[in-house]
Amino acid sequence: MLKDHSCGELRKQHIGQEVTLAGWVHRRRDHGGMVFIDLRDREGIVQVVFNPQTAQQAYEVATSLRNEYVIQLSGEVTLRPRGTANANLDTGEVEVSVKKLAVLNPSPTPPFYINEDVDVDELLCLKYRYLYLRRQRLQRNLALRHRVIKFIRDFLDGRGFLEVETPILIKSTPEGARDYLVPSRLNLGKFYALPQSPQQLKQMLMVSGLERYFQIARCFRDEDLRADRQPEFTQCDVEMSFVDEEDILQLTEEMFTSLVKEVIPQKRMLLPFPRLTYREAMERYGTDKPDIRFGMELRDITDIALQTEFDIFHAAIKAGGTVRGICVPGCGSYTRHQMDELIGQATSNGARGLTTVSISSESSTSFKSTALKHITQAQLESIAARFDARQGDLLLIVADKPDVVNNVLDVLRREMADRLNLRDKNLLAFTFITDFPLLQWNDATNKWDVMHHPFTAPKDEDIALLDFDPASVGGRHYDLVCNGSELGSGSIRMHHRQLQEKIFTLLGYSSEEINQQFGPFLAALEYGAPPHGGIALGIDRTIMIFAGEQSIREVIAFPKNQNAVDMIFDAPSVVTRQQLDELNLTLKNKQIVKG
Ligand code: AMO
Repeated sequence: MLKDHSCGELRKQHIGQEVTLAGWVHRRRDHGGMVFIDLRDREGIVQVVFNPQTAQQAYEVATSLRNEYVIQLSGEVTLRPRGTANANLDTGEVEVSVKKLAVLNPSPTPPFYINEDVDVDELLCLKYRYLYLRRQRLQRNLALRHRVIKFIRDFLDGRGFLEVETPILIKSTPEGARDYLVPSRLNLGKFYALPQSPQQLKQMLMVSGLERYFQIARCFRDEDLRADRQPEFTQCDVEMSFVDEEDILQLTEEMFTSLVKEVIPQKRMLLPFPRLTYREAMERYGTDKPDIRFGMELRDITDIALQTEFDIFHAAIKAGGTVRGICVPGCGSYTRHQMDELIGQATSNGARGLTTVSISSESSTSFKSTALKHITQAQLESIAARFDARQGDLLLIVADKPDVVNNVLDVLRREMADRLNLRDKNLLAFTFITDFPLLQWNDATNKWDVMHHPFTAPKDEDIALLDFDPASVGGRHYDLVCNGSELGSGSIRMHHRQLQEKIFTLLGYSSEEINQQFGPFLAALEYGAPPHGGIALGIDRTIMIFAGEQSIREVIAFPKNQNAVDMIFDAPSVVTRQQLDELNLTLKNKQIVKG
């Protein structure tokens, strides 16, 4: 090794020892005729000192060092002079008095600061990812990721799970996104799909008698990207035989509770994990992934709205809508400009408008409202009472179709929580959402859609409803949510061919399509498939929340940009005509071929 200690490990007990270190110049200061370098490696930073009196040659080379040069040095660990210790550094009580220095590799000035955690233009941080990853925050995130995955592997191993790898070149598995396709050279004109998840394969492993499977699985989905979505991401994919919902929820809760205690013990959790039915979640929070760390729950005032003279309320209710709102504590004195911002946010999320009611900070019965002319004092008082509103509060009310109302109030609730700083950073509010409906009618396609995926079993007691009231059929589907993010999703599956086929038919697949797409899977179910179920937990989102990051890009070594482009290697990229010929492919636009 070119070093015998790491920078971050040096402490008082090393004083007097001769050490050899190697790492990057984090920062250089010239001070009082000496050169001070903060030397960085993966384990941390230590100050090293070059004194021309004791090491003239090393000092001279040190004066030419620049940030991010790679150097190797030897010297003695000494106590920092009185008053110069740095409490912000783990190594801050000591320094290394350098005797020998070698420059292992110089570096041009990096395109952004490595030694300061200031925002970097997205393009730069993805293009120079290898430099961005040098930042200590990113290194900590990758180390956390490693520890989480290691913990999960050990935990599941201890519970009798086997990790089984499943293929990456497969046939399409419907998870609701588009597939990434891979053309086959040996089977011209045919394509593999990259797995959106190993769903059918893990179910087949249950048919094979594996009983307890897991995999740290890469998944690929061609969908619109967001802060918590990447085209390729990682799941902890789990499947078990002879279980019901409770077994999977218990396992998940135990795994996450012990995981948090192990890797981020400073964070608190609500134990046992609170559970909400899908219906409760929608009614109270307007979303199936609520952040329950704060209140501002939705309240329905449709009945009071009907008594008012407000046309907007009446029109919305007549069109099948509802009138609901949230009560924001202490924002009753919002200015016109602040209100306009909120109205803008509501309309850009689909609402036709936003009714605001401010309650005076002097009297709980003195109101200012955009709808004052149409709502009586008594009605305003009952509205305020419905929200348990107090003096100085602000009511935000939306009248529209239920899904618009829910979506807009969810957005406003989160916005106001951020403005009021209501999200407790030390709390991980894991929540299970249960009792989802199995299906949802899609007006655009005139078909039933699945809420989860087509392998989720209907509740036993609802099977009879499939023929005449599919909307009322409950699904055996559950989600794990944490602080407003969906971390995981799973279900108990169908293990009888007949029922699985019936669901495919209900979803609008013809028998030919069923055979073509799911024939082998249905055949497998016939050969004594055991009752089974599972869950898939998003590793990237888990680490994002554990690390307190706003985007999963900060916890993935080499993520793609918003257009799914790998900015380092510029993938996807054009290919040569020869490569296309070998695959028997021609492009409609002949320009986009290399050479
Ligand atoms: P689902 O599609 O809900 O379920 O995915 C499970 C979890 O994977 C994470 N996730 C993502 N993370 C980052 N980027 C993405 N594009 C992305 N898409 C999903 C989320 C999500 O909760 N086969 C089923 C699971 C099962 O039924 O066992 C499945 O994949 O955290």
